[in-house]
Amino acid sequence: MNKNVIEKIEDLRARIRYHDGKYYVENMPEIADYDYDQLMKELGRLESSYPQFITPDSPTQRVGGEPVSEFAPLEHRIPMLSIENTYSEDELREFDKRIRRMLKNDRLNEVVGQAPDQADNVEPADEIEYVVEHKIDGVAITLWYENGVFTRGATRGNGFRGDDVTTNLRTVKDIPLKFLCTDYSKIPPVIEIRGEIYMPNKDFEILNLRREEAGEPQFANPRNAAAGSLKLLNPQTTAKRPLRLFAYSFGHYEAGKFTSHIECLEAIEKFGLPVNPHYKLYKTIDEVVSYCNSWESRRDELDYQVDGMVIKVNSLELHDKLGSTSKAPRWVISYKYHPEEIPTKIEAIKVQVGKTGTLTPVAQLIPVPLSGTTVSKASLHNFDEIERKDIRIGDYVVVQKAGEIIPQVVKILHERRTGNEVVRFDVPEICPVCKSGITKEKVYLKCYNPLCVAQAKRRIIYFASRNAMDIEGFGPAIIEQLVDKKIIEDYADIYSLKFEDLEPLERMGEKSARNLLDAIGKSKDRDLHCLICALGIRNIGTHAAEVLSKHFGTLDKLMDASNDKLKELSEIGEITAKVVVDFFSNSHTKNVIDKLKAAGVNLSTIRKEAKTSSHIAGKSFVITGTLNGYSRKEIEDIIKNLDGRVSSAVSGKTDFLIAGESPGSKLEAAQKLGTTTLSKVEFENLINET
Ligand code: IVH
Repeated sequence: MNKNVIEKIEDLRARIRYHDGKYYVENMPEIADYDYDQLMKELGRLESSYPQFITPDSPTQRVGGEPVSEFAPLEHRIPMLSIENTYSEDELREFDKRIRRMLKNDRLNEVVGQAPDQADNVEPADEIEYVVEHKIDGVAITLWYENGVFTRGATRGNGFRGDDVTTNLRTVKDIPLKFLCTDYSKIPPVIEIRGEIYMPNKDFEILNLRREEAGEPQFANPRNAAAGSLKLLNPQTTAKRPLRLFAYSFGHYEAGKFTSHIECLEAIEKFGLPVNPHYKLYKTIDEVVSYCNSWESRRDELDYQVDGMVIKVNSLELHDKLGSTSKAPRWVISYKYHPEEIPTKIEAIKVQVGKTGTLTPVAQLIPVPLSGTTVSKASLHNFDEIERKDIRIGDYVVVQKAGEIIPQVVKILHERRTGNEVVRFDVPEICPVCKSGITKEKVYLKCYNPLCVAQAKRRIIYFASRNAMDIEGFGPAIIEQLVDKKIIEDYADIYSLKFEDLEPLERMGEKSARNLLDAIGKSKDRDLHCLICALGIRNIGTHAAEVLSKHFGTLDKLMDASNDKLKELSEIGEITAKVVVDFFSNSHTKNVIDKLKAAGVNLSTIRKEAKTSSHIAGKSFVITGTLNGYSRKEIEDIIKNLDGRVSSAVSGKTDFLIAGESPGSKLEAAQKLGTTTLSKVEFENLINET
């Protein structure tokens, strides 16, 4: 009897997958929606009568996930690098020349080795083929399949670590929960597929219309709508959003062999994931350029947003030969289309002081809608530019938004001048905030007063921010008050704050003040890389901070590092090395770091290693409910610091469920699976039993 049921269930699943492929991948449905729904209903009926036969890859299991409080991070095995961009045809041709040059040099070494005088006899590099694809303006994601079954997926994040959004991705119908291709000899047992989640223009408009009717805020553009939908904490809501996928490459794979990009695209299609149909293979850069240009004017024919074309070398062997820089592979470039522009008027110019003291002129504009958002400010970069372009207050200008970058003033509409425009904008001679003298450095005006309040505020805001020391509840409004009242001058002073300093502030209160003090205290134990990032050294973001932390192990060693030692690291170039050395040799910095040391802030990675617990290391944890005294993030940090893993949903692979007050349905799931459940006290005991 059971055998019959299993067969029936499997048959229905296979038929549904087949029709999914026809509908989503090939765009050629063979049956009516009604008939498809009947298949799904029948499968659903059978599965609810025989729940023991439900498998995670069943088409009914797309919307099974429960809401999460936040996403677990997922480290990318192969970084999700970005692509070099260009807007110019000449640069695209230069890309082709560069590749040919590199491959010729490579061949030269191979053939003549140490005898460069024979170079002229070397044959030119093999013929290069390019694949040209649309650059989809959506959200990059990566999908892992194990033995053909979708197991997890994540966003790109910072390229090295993204958010695990598996439960949300399961709701995207373009993503097969199981590969359509049944010839398992052709499927690598573990394979990662990368692509772009997007929202079709039409669906985006409908979604926004519905949101308007419901009095909900509208999304700025289809990309924001896709990103927002993918990051919803409730997968049931994501399931209702019209998200689609175009897959474009493999990441990591085991025991498979592909020799060209085209072959990869064909395999991806066979597996049942949609590949954008407009890709083309060319042998010359002229053909590449003309194909790219042909789409610029036709892109509004498409029902999805493209912001350019991506040009990739076809041969995977050549990908290996060409390699990557730290940011992007050398075998790919994107030819971007010019972004949208709109005219508006400059009403005033204000000067903003950044965290490293750069004074930037900012145009205050009559607000205008641009690429879905309202633009009311635009950076004018520097004062020379105002002079050079003769920008005047009252001018009509054209502003442009390129991707996520701050809007730029690209053109002055001289023909709209009335004569009433204020001719000159007075270039500041002193810092508008601290009133001390300023220095000109190339085209930039700089305030080097280490005590400048504007800089101090920005540095402290940055120090406390999520990617740095992550001090919850310590935002700009509180920091501004503390600096204005001279209670703190720099970020090290945060650690001397007392209850009496915080409680009287606006938007504070007794409870918030206590919570904030608690959060400040906890931040002392952050990993060294968080601190290095928080110091606000120019050019040192989250990734570089991780590299420095791993390499030097303690802040003292990093402070003692010479220019040459820093340059040994492949991620640190000449300029950054100098910036780091200069930063640490500054007497103000030394003073602030002494204060951090005195406050007991963690300055080394060793602590983390010493803390590694055999009970936690390598174990998988899921958290549900609230644990008095800890935020969700703090528990996660404790586990991660002890080399454990945190997931969002309970599965057979979960070792422990930490159940706090008012646990959710994860507790039931854990009980069903027989997963060990820990109370808050049991969890604390586990941490302490090292
Ligand atoms: S290939 C290392 N192909 O563009 C190369 N990317 O600016 C991997 N994108 O993060 C990317 N369409 O999200 C590739 N056909 C396409 C693409 C594409 C859109 C996105 C992708 C990437 C970003 C880089």
